[in-house]
Amino acid sequence: MTALFGCCVFACACSSIGNAADKSEPGLAVAFTALDGDKAKATDVTVLPNVRLYVPAGKPPTPFLSAGKFSAEWAGFVSSEIRDNYTFQAELNGDLKLEINGAAVLEASAHETNTAPSKPVRLNKGTNAFRLYFTSPAEGAAFVRLFWSTREFALEPIALGALTHETTAELQKAGLLRFGRELFIEFRCAKCHAGPSPGSAIPELSMDAPVFEGIGSRRNYHWMARWIADPKSMRATARMPKLLHGPKAKDDAEAIAAFLASLKSDSTPKDAKEAGAEQIEAGRKLFETLHCIACHNTPGTTENDLQKVSFNQVRAKYAPGSLVAFLRKPEEHYAWIRMPNFKLAPDEAAPLAAFLESAADKPGDVSAPGDTAAVERGRKLVQTSGCLNCHSLKLESQFKIRSLAELTPDKWKQGCLAAISNEDSKAPQFSFSSTEREAVQAFAATDRASLTRHVPAEFAERQARLLRCAECHGKFEGFPPWETLGGKLKPEWMKAFIGGELAYKPRPWIEPRMPAFPQYADALATGLTEEQGLPPRTPPEPPIDLEAAKIGRKLVSASGGFFCVSCHAVGGLAAAQVFESNGVNLAYTGARLQKDYYHRWVRNPLRIEPGTKMPVYFDAEGKSPLTDYYEGDAGKQIEAIWQYIRLGDKMPPPVEAQ
Ligand code: HEC
Ligand code: HEC
Ligand code: HEC
Ligand code: HEC
Ligand code: HEC
Repeated sequence: MTALFGCCVFACACSSIGNAADKSEPGLAVAFTALDGDKAKATDVTVLPNVRLYVPAGKPPTPFLSAGKFSAEWAGFVSSEIRDNYTFQAELNGDLKLEINGAAVLEASAHETNTAPSKPVRLNKGTNAFRLYFTSPAEGAAFVRLFWSTREFALEPIALGALTHETTAELQKAGLLRFGRELFIEFRCAKCHAGPSPGSAIPELSMDAPVFEGIGSRRNYHWMARWIADPKSMRATARMPKLLHGPKAKDDAEAIAAFLASLKSDSTPKDAKEAGAEQIEAGRKLFETLHCIACHNTPGTTENDLQKVSFNQVRAKYAPGSLVAFLRKPEEHYAWIRMPNFKLAPDEAAPLAAFLESAADKPGDVSAPGDTAAVERGRKLVQTSGCLNCHSLKLESQFKIRSLAELTPDKWKQGCLAAISNEDSKAPQFSFSSTEREAVQAFAATDRASLTRHVPAEFAERQARLLRCAECHGKFEGFPPWETLGGKLKPEWMKAFIGGELAYKPRPWIEPRMPAFPQYADALATGLTEEQGLPPRTPPEPPIDLEAAKIGRKLVSASGGFFCVSCHAVGGLAAAQVFESNGVNLAYTGARLQKDYYHRWVRNPLRIEPGTKMPVYFDAEGKSPLTDYYEGDAGKQIEAIWQYIRLGDKMPPPVEAQ
């Protein structure tokens, strides 16, 4: 998936920017051109992992172009391990032309169908020049999904490792622009410099910040005073800027903290009980099982990865009892928080909190001064410093500032983007690096209409990277690898699953669990699906073919079938022989999998996951060893099993072994 290709990560600030050209950058370079409108043709370039694109009718292909007719040109190299013949074929709505090593090999104009297969194309060992032109159709969603096959394997998306491109100055420039837009979104610039109205803006312009109501019951005064004075010194990845400067800054921060500390809620958490060694040990185990280190530094060690959040401050920051409450529902007072919800039971959250607290720095024992004058001054400062542009509280904001439209590009070297901050200026300080400033300036120079163009695939690429999905997927054994998730799951199921709405665990045999990202689930599921060239809603299938389902049931059974149920549970019936090779309960599969993926997986799982324990049953020609059904036609047998699987929780149990 494209998460691997996003050039601009906060950490490495565009590693590819400034590098010399290299043919081996993963993915293909893609140039989009808007074909509508009278302006000179607008273009945008980017890198995509594969030839897979889905653009709903009336939507733009990238945030940097307007909606309407467009063309896209993929360019780079396709490599082959040996000299061999390949056949290419596409699912398409639009016009397509594919050139390999300069020769046209596939040309088609198709309307929501498959193209004919290309003639066999000889690919040389090593890299071959690859170029594909696509034009969007006059009507309907524009999509293209390119597949290849050889005598050794059936049609499948081109292997990710086989596609590469050369970096160009143009791509680097476009990468910098994307990074600038990302910074503008993440640092919530539009909260103060009002941009497009919420109705027309991308969803992320509504990103919130922790609510102030009741914050005095949840966070400690002393910690808040330090945070408000300089958030970045407390956490390298803080999004909140430094708002107070000058000689009075420290006093002001303390006054504001005193005011915030006075905002108590009714449900003040009870004092936490002193944790025993046993509880701390249980928390440590859980911390390991759940792989919290994907995003956090390990407590009690000197690990200090600045891209990860440290736990050193949890005792100083969280009022007694409120750390447990936070762990149980991180999004309660901050919907867009990037900390996911692990649906911890009370007897999990308490030991976890005890473990984190046991390794944290001791808090200073300064409690809020009961000074009413300071509280009043703090209230006023909160109203006048811009806090309420991001944080919510029933209190009038008295902070007005230039709108985004008024910030003409010539101004983007001053104020919030000044290279050297002026202590007299009211502008917040973001402490941007020079690359970051350059990136935001590149964004400033555009018409900024990209803030109104929500392109789910682009959202998913960016947010999956910022949310560190691939720090679990692909890093830890037994987790579904990130690259295999693309095109695998139905968007409806993914949305519910990422949102934490499903009551079951697909893989009950592994201890780790997928944490929920409720605020992000919908757009992530849509984006991860469209990124694979697939529609955001699963097209309806014809009614279940019950005759085929009966045959499917026999095929998965022990007697006369493939004995799939040796590894797969079916509904309440457990897998017959559990080694270390469990498969997902097949009663869930119909709601989970994209049909096309299902077919490719069962036909040859090793083509998708080379390390899987699931056996290959069918040969490369598509013949089945069981010739009693459909004359041994693999495709028809796999389809019959699909009809059986579609019965879901109404699947009759498979036929018993005799
Ligand atoms: C808390 C509110 C706030 C946020 C958030 C904010 N700004 Fe500002 N911005 C200000 C203030 C205050 C000034 C100073 C205005 C002045 O000097 O009169 C300013 C000034 C500027 C200026 C200079 C304008 C001029 O006319 O001199 C630019 C450009 C700017 N901000 C861009 C940004 C960008 C980009 C972001 C996000 C990274 C951002 N701002 C986030 C409040 C904010
Ligand atoms: C996918 C990444 C991710 C994973 C996995 C994750 N966290 Fe977090 N966590 C975050 C982020 C990001 C924050 C900072 C949220 C914010 O304040 O904006 C955070 C914040 C926290 C905080 C508050 C820290 C503070 O100083 O306020 C605690 C406590 C915490 N996480 C505990 C855990 C535990 C325990 C686990 C494992 C069960 C876990 N996290 C797993 C991303 C993650
Ligand atoms: C541009 C938006 C923005 C502005 C302006 C802003 N904050 Fe924040 N604030 C955030 C975000 C986002 C967080 C969450 C942590 C992070 O990622 O920085 C946060 C976190 C906090 C926290 C910690 C809350 C918690 O439970 O973790 C406090 C306290 C706070 N802000 C106070 C203030 C005060 C006081 C002001 C005004 C002086 C202010 N903020 C201005 C965006 C903002
Ligand atoms: C703390 C580690 C962790 C993080 C971070 C994480 N996941 Fe997962 N994810 C898992 C585990 C474990 C599973 C398998 C759960 C099961 O099957 O019981 C999973 C399963 C999934 C599945 C279902 C795959 C399948 O074949 O059943 C999807 C989709 C998914 N994750 C998406 C995401 C996305 C998107 C993100 C980032 C927003 C993310 N994950 C971040 C641990 C993680
Ligand atoms: C030796 C054990 C084994 C046998 C036998 C087996 N599978 Fe699997 N199967 C697996 C494993 C392992 C996975 C991958 C599990 C994962 O994603 O974590 C899997 C995954 C699947 C999936 C994806 C399910 C989902 O919802 O993610 C399907 C469909 C499937 N198998 C069908 C079959 C069929 C049909 C047969 C018989 C023709 C079969 N399997 C036989 C081990 C097996």
